[in-house]
Amino acid sequence: MTTEILSTHTPELFAAAVHRAADLLRSGAVVALPTETVYGLAANALDAAAVAKIFQIKGRPAHNPLIVHVASRAMAASCVTSFPAVAEKLSRAFWPGPLTLVLPRANIIRPPVPAGGGTVAIRWPAHPFIQAVIRECGFPLAAPSANLSNRISPTNAGHVRAQLDGKIPLIVDGGQSQVGIESTVLDLSVTPPVILRPGMIHAESLAAIVTAISLSGDPGRSTLRSPGQLPKHYSPKAKLWVWDWPHETALAGRLTALGLNPATVHILAHTRIPGGEGFAGVSVIPHDAEAFARALYAELHRCDDAGVQNIVVEQPPDSPDWAAILDRLRRAAA
Ligand code: TXA
Ligand code: MG
Repeated sequence: MTTEILSTHTPELFAAAVHRAADLLRSGAVVALPTETVYGLAANALDAAAVAKIFQIKGRPAHNPLIVHVASRAMAASCVTSFPAVAEKLSRAFWPGPLTLVLPRANIIRPPVPAGGGTVAIRWPAHPFIQAVIRECGFPLAAPSANLSNRISPTNAGHVRAQLDGKIPLIVDGGQSQVGIESTVLDLSVTPPVILRPGMIHAESLAAIVTAISLSGDPGRSTLRSPGQLPKHYSPKAKLWVWDWPHETALAGRLTALGLNPATVHILAHTRIPGGEGFAGVSVIPHDAEAFARALYAELHRCDDAGVQNIVVEQPPDSPDWAAILDRLRRAAA
């Protein structure tokens, strides 16, 4: 199949791409769409055959449920048995945006979307393109990240194309994803609510609204409840380490001690920036959690494309605003 790539940077192109995407989705096709977190691989959430194609295209295990994307609170409410007061408050504070809420599912949400479970994960994304498509379709969209299973999520249309060219009819180019890592997943189907996946909406922001909240949950339990949270996930092809170093000589010494030739190592630094000589490459990512999240996956994709064998990332701060970044780096290093 040939994969059409549509731009959205003028009102006319935007409208044409919305119509094309909606037509394809109505006909049961799977298309890649921009969201503010990462690009999504979308299908009509109410069409089991269309959703099954997502699992097949990604090579996603059948036991890993999908997030359902909506464009109104009413549409969210139609997907669940009840929309409790806490969900109402959270949605007023953080939707549209990078927060996914897990609630008991209504009967219109059927397998394979919930992967056999009794709950559904729902998100109202902030990106205007996917919002316009959902409104035009009138049905919610099931969409995991638009990467092959176990690879890094795409944050621009080029990343999607590199993994899915020829496998889907359409990729819509909506620019660089502005958040850059996947949404925070909060399970409201249990008491107290549990964060199944940290994201750029931090535990502290959620705690301002949900008083009793289990910040990280029991890792074993949340792995079972959210199969996408297996320790090894979101990985580049290269081996990855997260280190602190006082200066460049110490960094080089540590590499040598591990038997690694610095010429095979790409460095991602934000504070103690080594000179470029001797390393495969050095990327500087801003020392700011929002900017770091936005840039991280693009840097990892670049390393994959360049065939880099080893990546060393400078240790980010251990503070709440960096928690989701630390989580992704831990998984990438697993
Ligand atoms: O930012 C995002 O959330 C992106 C964009 C496209 O919206 N989507 C995304 O989807 O990251 P995916 O499929 O790559 O990750 C969804 C995560 C997985 O860890 C999955 O196990 C979990 O959400 N999940 C989905 N439905 C669930 C449910 N009913 N209960 C518990 N976890 C669920
Ligand atoms: Mg994913």
